[in-house]
Amino acid sequence: MAEHESLEFGKADFVLLDNVSLEEFMANLKLRFEKGRIYTYIGEVVVSVNPYRAMNIYGRDTIEQYKGRELYERPPHLFAIADAAYKAMKRRNKDTCIVISGESGAGKTEASKYIMQYIAAITNPGQRAEVERVKNMLLKSNCVLEAFGNAKTNRNDNSSRFGKYMDINFDFKGDPIGGHINNYLLEKSLRCVTKTPHCYSLGCLQLVKGGPDSLLRSLHVSKDPTAYNYIRVGGQVKVRLSSINDTADFKAVADAMKVIGFTAEEIQTVYKILASILHLGNLRFGVDGDTTLIENPKVVELIGGLLATKEESVEKALLYRTVATGRDVIDKQHTAQEAGYGRDALAKAMYERMFCWIVGRINDVIEVKNYDAKVHGKNTVIGVLDIYGFEIFQNNSFEQFCINYCNEKLQQLFIQLVLTQEQEEYQREGIPWKHIDYFNNQVIVDLVELQHKGIFSVLDEACMNVGKVTDEVFLQGLNSKLAKHAHYTSRKLSPTDKSLEFDRDFRVRHYAGDVVYSVVGFIDKNKDTLFQDFKRLLYNSSNPVLKVMWPEGKLSITEVTKRPLTAATLFKNSMIALVENLACKEPYYVRCIKPNEVKSPLLFEQERCRHQVEYLGLLENVRVRRAGFANRQEYPRFLQRYKMISEFTWPNHDLRSDREAVKMLLQSCGLEHDVAYGKTKVFIRTPRTLFSLEEQRAEMVGRIVLFLQKVWRGTIARMRYRRMRAALVILRAYRRFKVKSYVRDVNRRFKSVRSMKDRGRSIKWPTPPKVLRRFEEALRSIYSRWWAWTLIKDLTPEEKLQIKAKVATLEALKGQRPDLGLQRSWEGNYLVSWTRYQGSGLLEGLEVVRKDKFMRVLFSCNVRKINRFHKAEDRAIFITDRHLYKMDPVKQYKPMKNIPLYNVTGVSVSPGKDQLVVFHTKDSRDLVVCLQGMTPPGDSRIGELVGTLLSHFKRSRTTTCTTTSTEQRKLSLTRIERGVGGPGAQLSKRTNTLVSSLRNRCLTGPQLAASLNSTHKPPVSTSTVKRQLRDAGLLFFFLMIT
Ligand SMILES: Nc1ncnc2c1ncn2[C@@H]1O[C@H](COP(=O)(O)OP(=O)(O)OP(=O)(O)O)[C@@H](O)[C@H]1O
Ligand SMILES: [Mg+2]
Repeated sequence: MAEHESLEFGKADFVLLDNVSLEEFMANLKLRFEKGRIYTYIGEVVVSVNPYRAMNIYGRDTIEQYKGRELYERPPHLFAIADAAYKAMKRRNKDTCIVISGESGAGKTEASKYIMQYIAAITNPGQRAEVERVKNMLLKSNCVLEAFGNAKTNRNDNSSRFGKYMDINFDFKGDPIGGHINNYLLEKSLRCVTKTPHCYSLGCLQLVKGGPDSLLRSLHVSKDPTAYNYIRVGGQVKVRLSSINDTADFKAVADAMKVIGFTAEEIQTVYKILASILHLGNLRFGVDGDTTLIENPKVVELIGGLLATKEESVEKALLYRTVATGRDVIDKQHTAQEAGYGRDALAKAMYERMFCWIVGRINDVIEVKNYDAKVHGKNTVIGVLDIYGFEIFQNNSFEQFCINYCNEKLQQLFIQLVLTQEQEEYQREGIPWKHIDYFNNQVIVDLVELQHKGIFSVLDEACMNVGKVTDEVFLQGLNSKLAKHAHYTSRKLSPTDKSLEFDRDFRVRHYAGDVVYSVVGFIDKNKDTLFQDFKRLLYNSSNPVLKVMWPEGKLSITEVTKRPLTAATLFKNSMIALVENLACKEPYYVRCIKPNEVKSPLLFEQERCRHQVEYLGLLENVRVRRAGFANRQEYPRFLQRYKMISEFTWPNHDLRSDREAVKMLLQSCGLEHDVAYGKTKVFIRTPRTLFSLEEQRAEMVGRIVLFLQKVWRGTIARMRYRRMRAALVILRAYRRFKVKSYVRDVNRRFKSVRSMKDRGRSIKWPTPPKVLRRFEEALRSIYSRWWAWTLIKDLTPEEKLQIKAKVATLEALKGQRPDLGLQRSWEGNYLVSWTRYQGSGLLEGLEVVRKDKFMRVLFSCNVRKINRFHKAEDRAIFITDRHLYKMDPVKQYKPMKNIPLYNVTGVSVSPGKDQLVVFHTKDSRDLVVCLQGMTPPGDSRIGELVGTLLSHFKRSRTTTCTTTSTEQRKLSLTRIERGVGGPGAQLSKRTNTLVSSLRNRCLTGPQLAASLNSTHKPPVSTSTVKRQLRDAGLLFFFLMIT
């Protein structure tokens, strides 16, 4: 809960007084005023006492304290009432209004400004430029309206001479989107230019005292206010408070007009009108014989210039009146007095037209634009009414009468809403209620406005009299019609009352006190007495802005116009409209009290304040409030708002009626002691209960929001999940489809490979989907191995050996020699065929060799040996799986030297055609030979030699380390094992194909080797594919395709 004022400051709400008596009320009001607490509540009504000093309670920090708070959370303040009105508007989507009342100088206008300031400060958190613009316009318009609509009076330096009702329109979010100003300027009786010593226009004064020299020069206006009759009061000018800087004020108004959107021409015209009015006031009329004349014609020239009309036309309009009698038009000369009257009427009318035009222009700018209720939602309104306060002067005339009537109307509205309706409602709803008496001022309202009998009617009748039309006739009418009225009297009716003058005064007993009015001027002020000639004069001005202000000047002299409505009727109609407008809104009241007449911040004039408290009906207000209920709401509406507080009502109740449900709800909150149940509404006695309900609601709303968020987030997540899952299913199906189609395609293409001649070598592999690339590699590998297997499966062991040897050759010498002899069959033991061909014997040599018990002959061939002296001799080499023999062909191949194979450390071969082979031995006695005696000649046997040796070593499972030096073309074998060889076999056709594919790299050595080493393998078995797939991480797909 918020801070509360301690009791040393008195009671913050008059409802809390121990005894409701005027004494206690006044004591509390005084105490609070003296302690600097200028605001006090009566329930939701704020009573404000003018402090007459700057108070530090309107700053940004205070605004923050009141923002969004309930009324009773903080000490009483205007901001609280503004916030309550704003909240009510937002919460219930209802139009609200703040009615500020009180007498002149009580602080109404100031209060309205603070309220506007507060609303501007708390709205538009999003800082939308358009809303900022509207807010700025609304605030600036105030400054302009005050400058032209206010006057300095003896009661208030800045007295509103017009009533202002401003509607602020809000969008559904609660941001201001525009506004409208209704001004209740007193028609024809604006006193800003009267010579009465009460007041004068701030606009005129500001121009004279604050206008820049160049402007004043162009307007022919001097800086001395005493030079102008209209703003000179009783020969002396009342100087405004020294603290107010006229130049700054003038500039502020000029700037505000610019911001609002007045063009330079329009602003200039306004200054010209003000200057013309000042000059008009100085016109003097004299008489020369029968002729009325203007004594200072120079002024006429100035006025003509300023109003953009001919000097002669101005002079004629001032001195003559054009009268149409039938078809004739004659000029009737004014008397000096009539001319003087006409001049004043012109000045007033010009001022009034200008003011209305300014309000119209401001309304054009601030009105809500481009708003479509269907699109943007309902547009709600907060109205702020700051209207002239109750006035009692020494000499009260028609203006005071209108103003006081207006205050009667507003008091009646207050009574209607706060006192009468409330009590009637209790009765209607069957709530036990003891009636509280109060003074109902309807009788005074009727006294003024009643048809045929009211003062306004009598006045209008007097004006329409065919015979003599004088103020006295009007008074006689009043005396005869209202003689018996308790609130009306005159000297004639009470001859002993010396405070009333015969044939001049009448007294009305207003709700706020007795006021004596002088009838002098009533008739004139009520009639539209501005001569048509002036209207035509101004309409015919060449200044377009001025012309717009006088549309009726268009009518020609002979045109008969309807009698215009009188000022009283116009005023009455506007008041009725205003009250109707206010009555349909939810009202909030600020009741202003003026503590003293001397604008002192210290003085609390007991009598004066007591009087105001009495006539404002504040005490009755407290009584009704105390006995009554702070709030009432219809059951369904109440439930709608608070049903979340109780488990019985959330989300919907199942009780017999809403009334029962509300009872249940309040019982469950423990609040039933503070409420009463009417027929259709629940009545809540103290605002605290309402506040407590609001608090609980706010807490629950948070939870509901959380709940909704939770559900919604869940929904979104589920939606997203479903979408994702659907995407995944589609993705999977698509992948499956792709994989399946690939596998089907492969299957289709390779289905009949077995029966194909080339075993499917010519088949083009389909492009696999990305995910099956490794699978394809595996497949290809499987296929290749199968294909190799089909080639070698029927080979003899010899053929297999030969293939292995060729593979070894290829691996060792690929790219090192142009011809590796892979194409032909490798016989190995060439000496056998050679000797058979030569007819010579190998037998002797073989006999010797056989002793070595070899298993297999690896290679034999005629060679030419080169010794270290480069001497060449024919020899033969004979390599078994155990030894390398050097033989002499001349001596029947008798072995000359034998080297155990394990002593052969390596073989070097030359890249050329010479077929040079170096057998490196451990003892470094290398054997260097060139292979020769080939059939056909030149046949390359180097590859065969190297391959056979390599394959031999591999097969015998010795660790071999083969290093091939490119430069030296050297192949070295680290270890050689013994073995026995047989004659080389014929190469089958299939073997040849295999070898060629080896050369073309279709098949890798290891692949072939794997095929060669295996006994039998099915082409592509399911388990193989499975394993391959698993190796490739694709078992998943395998499962899908099988
Ligand atoms: N809250 C306030 N703080 C300080 N001064 C204030 C406050 N309210 C009023 N005043 C002073 O009282 C003066 C008169 O106030 P204001 O013009 O609001 O009276 P009003 O009720 O509008 O009178 P009128 O009916 O003549 O227009 C202000 O010029 C200002 O000096
Ligand atoms: Mg005011």
